[in-house]
Amino acid sequence: MKKVITYGTFDLLHYGHINILKRAKQHGDFLIVALSTDEFNSLKGKASYFSYEERKQLLEAIKYVDHVIPEETWDQKIRDVRKYGIDCFVMGNDWEGKFDFLKPYTEVVYLPRTPEISTSKIKNDLGLGFGSAG
Ligand code: CTP
Repeated sequence: MKKVITYGTFDLLHYGHINILKRAKQHGDFLIVALSTDEFNSLKGKASYFSYEERKQLLEAIKYVDHVIPEETWDQKIRDVRKYGIDCFVMGNDWEGKFDFLKPYTEVVYLPRTPEISTSKIKNDLGLGFGSAG
């Protein structure tokens, strides 16, 4: 079984998120999403609209997602790859090159972002503030 992992905040779930999860799943058989905790977001100076538990519930309802784990630090990725036996690490190409240090441990794939949609854009358009939970 080929295991895939991806990371993110996935706040105010939108079709760009669905699209990357769908394509991530196509790289294997089992998709793990490492979801930024509220504490990790605040460490980054960001805040999500939905709480970790709310964002986790939404992700778990998506047919492409098999398992959700917490993302609590920047440096857990090598540990996660080893612990979960990950074969493929997927991120949107806004992160192009940033995770190449994982290449000795797993395949690293950057997928094109879906144009013209992001959590920040939704927040801005709805006047919910200018913070990004990236
Ligand atoms: N993503 C994507 N296409 C988009 C938006 C996000 O492929 N239009 C991907 C990102 O590249 C990342 C994952 O979805 O791999 C989670 O991204 P996240 O930062 O949580 O979502 P954004 O909408 O980019 O949030 P923000 O605007 O707060 O940065």
